[in-house]
Amino acid sequence: MNIIPINTQIAKPISYWIDSTPDTFYPSVSHHVLVDVAIVGAGIVGVTAATMLKKAGKTVALIDANQIAGGVSGHTTAKVTSLHQLIYAELIQQFGEEKARIYAESNQAALEYIAQTVSAENIDCDFSRESAYTFAENDENLELIKKEVEAALKLGLPVSFVRKTSLPFVIAGAIKLDNQAQFHPRKYLQHLVKSIPGEGSHVFERTRVVNVEEENPCRVITDNFTIQAQKVLITTNIPILDAGLYFAKTYPKRSYIIGAAINPEIAPQGMFIGSGEKYYSIRTTPYLNGLLLLIGGGGHKVGTVTNTEEIYQDLENYGRSRFGIDSFEYRWSSQDYVSFDKLPYIGRLTPLSQHVFVATGFSLWGMTKGTMAAMLLKDLVLEIDHPWSQLYDATRATPFITPEGLKQNLDVGTHWIGDRIKGFGDSLKDVPNNQGQVVQVDGQKVAAYRDENGTVHAVSAICSHLGCVVAWNNAEKSWDCPCHGARFNCEGKVLHGPAVNDLDQVST
Ligand SMILES: Cc1cc2nc3c(=O)[nH]c(=O)nc-3n(C[C@H](O)[C@H](O)[C@H](O)COP(=O)(O)OP(=O)(O)OC[C@H]3O[C@@H](n4cnc5c(N)ncnc54)[C@H](O)[C@@H]3O)c2cc1C
Ligand code: FES
Repeated sequence: MNIIPINTQIAKPISYWIDSTPDTFYPSVSHHVLVDVAIVGAGIVGVTAATMLKKAGKTVALIDANQIAGGVSGHTTAKVTSLHQLIYAELIQQFGEEKARIYAESNQAALEYIAQTVSAENIDCDFSRESAYTFAENDENLELIKKEVEAALKLGLPVSFVRKTSLPFVIAGAIKLDNQAQFHPRKYLQHLVKSIPGEGSHVFERTRVVNVEEENPCRVITDNFTIQAQKVLITTNIPILDAGLYFAKTYPKRSYIIGAAINPEIAPQGMFIGSGEKYYSIRTTPYLNGLLLLIGGGGHKVGTVTNTEEIYQDLENYGRSRFGIDSFEYRWSSQDYVSFDKLPYIGRLTPLSQHVFVATGFSLWGMTKGTMAAMLLKDLVLEIDHPWSQLYDATRATPFITPEGLKQNLDVGTHWIGDRIKGFGDSLKDVPNNQGQVVQVDGQKVAAYRDENGTVHAVSAICSHLGCVVAWNNAEKSWDCPCHGARFNCEGKVLHGPAVNDLDQVST
């Protein structure tokens, strides 16, 4: 990797969306509660579904282990678009035109739902209509762009092929879809959530759900009290329940974003994403009196890259070389679950479930797909037939036998067995300051981090989900599981599911 070691300003290691909105302090659950619908996870899916169900006359309890939109929805790029890089040609080939058309229409409907909600409720969330582009920098990927134009036109999306954009560099060509949108996701979701508490409905923050028992009524078990509900929506990005095997029908992809102030006169207009093996995602957002340029990229499977610092440096180098940026305000990263057959999983947890529903597998396009999931989940709860439900049926069996499904599950097997028998260093003394390493102490695999002051923080290296060995992530200072993407901080506390339990403490 070509690294230019210049850094005129240390970027804040926090998402701009989180940094520019206040923390929320809804209560933790402190008593037993009975509602019509419990919704576990307050990202874009959970918040949207909860507001829709409350409007439909249901009592709801929205529960989050952390804060409203503090998860992936608070760390996204927040392009609201049906142009998901390159997808339509593949969908037509895999599923046929009719199903691909439902995909396009349902994403467009979700986009319009967001637009209408922003307008009807006058939500101050930097919403703007923009064109979305997927570009090829050279002829290598140009054919794919042209095929995508053809496919999207067939499905009724008003796309065009362009050779010029407002990007300050030459491209070979791009697919352009007008009248798409972007927004500030946390301002939007913090506004929506305000309508929930009251009339028998609740919002609970800092309340971790550790299990859900499907009974009549269902029991949502938190680390303190139990919430009873007729129906339960698991909207935790990746379901925290193992039933349904969603962790084996998706793989976790981590991706990185940097933010830099840019002179509005030279800023690109629109939302952009490249194509090919290595690509970057680009948009701007209002910032102070000007604009913040967001550049995303560096995606990889969670737990497979230790030197993640290099990824931020690569994004900064791209900002310098392509946009003439020399100072960076923000850097953050997050992850989403990629579905093996490219379609999200929305619906019943298992074929036998009557009362528990899930939504996952948004493949890094969950602003529209997450909103569309909320629309479908609402109708499933209200027992209204929906024309999209079959396509996205969460219990469909096909993903397991896709080439991606076989490859990813083989990889998980390799980690589960290989990492457990692999040799690791055997001395805590060898762990350098400011670094984490898995070491073997008295036959036990220990995830050890030595902080700047030389203090060692040691926890079990065995993931509390299904027992893989976690790996160090140096930029985020976290322990990441290469099997299904659970993440833990250096004290072993859960940062991301599917795990619900912390890593065991180890005394040194
Ligand atoms: C870097 C990046 C860029 C992206 N850019 C775009 C984009 O431009 N456009 C787009 O459409 N999509 C984008 N995406 C994808 C999109 O952000 C996600 O698909 C979407 O935010 C997922 O929403 P969610 O509601 O499923 O998850 P989340 O927002 O993560 O919400 C899940 C919530 O569940 C809570 N939770 C977890 N476990 C528990 C538990 N045990 N008990 C209680 N609560 C729990 C978490 O705290 C969290 O708040 C991007 C994703 C990434 C990673
Ligand atoms: S996330 Fe499943 S084993 Fe770690």
